[in-house]
Amino acid sequence: MNRYAVFGQPIAHSLSPRIHAAFGAQLGVELDYRAIEAGRETFAETLAAFARDGGRGANVTLPLKEDAVALCGALSGRARRCGSVNTLIRDGVGWRGDSTDGVGLLRDLARHGIDPRGRRVLLLGAGGAARAAAFALVDAGARELVVANRTAARAQALADVLGTPARAWAWDALRDCAAFDLVVNATSAGHAADAFDWPLAAGAAPAACYDLSYGNAARPFLAAARAAHARAVHDGLGMLVEQAAESFERWHGVRPDTTPVHEELRAVLDARG
Ligand code: ATR
Repeated sequence: MNRYAVFGQPIAHSLSPRIHAAFGAQLGVELDYRAIEAGRETFAETLAAFARDGGRGANVTLPLKEDAVALCGALSGRARRCGSVNTLIRDGVGWRGDSTDGVGLLRDLARHGIDPRGRRVLLLGAGGAARAAAFALVDAGARELVVANRTAARAQALADVLGTPARAWAWDALRDCAAFDLVVNATSAGHAADAFDWPLAAGAAPAACYDLSYGNAARPFLAAARAAHARAVHDGLGMLVEQAAESFERWHGVRPDTTPVHEELRAVLDARG
């Protein structure tokens, strides 16, 4: 049987094996998809061993998405632009790298009825996750993309590579901004803290707020967004399912229906509390 896996650290609680098993069952595709623990020091050799054992495709998650770029013999245009790979496809004797995070975000936003075209969007964060989101939001036609980050220089660097319509904005000056149509949280702040320090003025409630994380990590930002009277708040569970569907299609040539899998995972997360 063809082998697939997700590599990362920590990886034990990854939902990806469950998602790909559900897609496979839905479409009658037999596959063996596992979670494999690998840190930055062991990733290259673990991936090589996986390929020798019949690995045909892999997902890559924290902290390996940037390291994966160097292990690919070829990259998709979007992976090259983001400097990040979350999907590996075995191609002859090497790996082809792709990044499906951005399209996963856009598909999930669409599922929620959110179209960034012509919108004023605020992106919080400037790390790897923010980068994939930023390119997707600009490609989707955002009228303005304001990037704010705790470390201002990283926001400026990201805005510089994006060009128009992106610009960097000091985190502390966000209080002076008019209301945004969409606020996307791409910081990892929710992994460490219980509360999110809401940066916008009280009277500037955004139309929609989206956290790229899900589960406990998304709670602080989504709670702060609700308290600020955002009209809609969404976590990134749907993005996880959509990026997985995109990877699945790259490997198997068929596209799964994400709706039932999304519902199943929501129930799993709710049960975890
Ligand atoms: P990822 O791949 O998840 O994006 P990363 O590249 O380490 O991880 O980026 C983490 C992002 O979350 C950065 O934008 C980081 O801000 P800095 O560039 O200033 O480090 C942001 N971040 C992490 N902890 C944060 C916190 N407590 N408050 C605000 N931003 C935070």
